[in-house]
Amino acid sequence: IMEGDPFVLIEGMAIAGVATGATKGFVYIRSEYPHAVAMMQKAVEVARQAGLLGVNVLGSPNAFDMEIRVGAGAYVCGEETSLLNSLEGKRGVVRAKPPLPAIQGLFGKPTVINNVISLTSVPVIMDKGAAFYKDFGMGRSRGTIPIQIAGNVRYGGLFEAAFGMTLGEIVDDIGGGTATGRPVKAVQVGGPLGAYFPRSLLDTPFDYEAFAAKDGLIGHAGITVFDDTADMLKQARFAMEFCAVESCGKCTPCRIGSTRGVETIDRIAKGIEPDKQIELVTDLCNTMKFGSLCALGGFTP
Ligand SMILES: Cc1cc2nc3c(=O)[nH]c(=O)nc-3n(C[C@H](O)[C@H](O)[C@H](O)COP(=O)(O)O)c2cc1C
Ligand code: SF4
Repeated sequence: IMEGDPFVLIEGMAIAGVATGATKGFVYIRSEYPHAVAMMQKAVEVARQAGLLGVNVLGSPNAFDMEIRVGAGAYVCGEETSLLNSLEGKRGVVRAKPPLPAIQGLFGKPTVINNVISLTSVPVIMDKGAAFYKDFGMGRSRGTIPIQIAGNVRYGGLFEAAFGMTLGEIVDDIGGGTATGRPVKAVQVGGPLGAYFPRSLLDTPFDYEAFAAKDGLIGHAGITVFDDTADMLKQARFAMEFCAVESCGKCTPCRIGSTRGVETIDRIAKGIEPDKQIELVTDLCNTMKFGSLCALGGFTP
């Protein structure tokens, strides 16, 4: 969205600013996305010149300006309170809540934090009306979502679809099935910490609530497809290792648990008392799931 239609984000943020009385908005983008950074910076300049941003937004008494901030690339800096610390020039460590950012956020000021997709939906709803927006999707998940299909799939890429297609339809009808032509073993949804949906759950509709009911998440709607040759133990190790590398270190279940998780899974791979290790790692996963301060540690299991 930021690379292809940056003004819809600027418009959405300006509307959010005027609605809440905020005069400053930040877009936090990781340095790994240089095209998005360059496009947003240029678009903000154009919007300023056009009077869409500045002291009198579109000639109104409302002031709103924007700044593009580039993050070094820590995954956890996408978590809202860690993002606030990073914006303040501190280490991206998660803050305990309360206080919620809406009460005490950036530099202690009330702060609205939203996803790009949430903010960019606002101008569409205001322009075309709620009924238009509601016409796409199902249940409480309305509108469309850009789905990134990757992994062992014939047609990978970025596709925009309305909520409601089943996971299997997305993989087969949009993605064209696996690139190897072999049966799908699992589909991971929501990024490196997303749940792996086995074949038996491919009838799950792409809908926030339906995914949550199956202990999964849609997240940024990244989908990775695996065929029946995939080694799921290796994938489990990857999740623990990713968590160990990306952990902000604030809470023990994530900071220590992820490293112990890698070690335990390695013992399973080596065949060292596997039953005992599975019992251990199950207990560890429960501790991480229910005891972590944020979703990085919480979703790793
Ligand atoms: C570890 C972690 C990483 C996250 N990364 C992102 C991210 O890259 N982009 C994003 O929009 N939200 C990310 N989030 C979610 C945000 O914390 C926040 O909940 C969300 O952006 C709120 O927006 P919404 O209410 O409009 O969905 C992340 C959350 C966690 C726990
Ligand atoms: S779960 Fe991990 S990333 Fe989140 S606060 Fe705890 S240590 Fe930090």
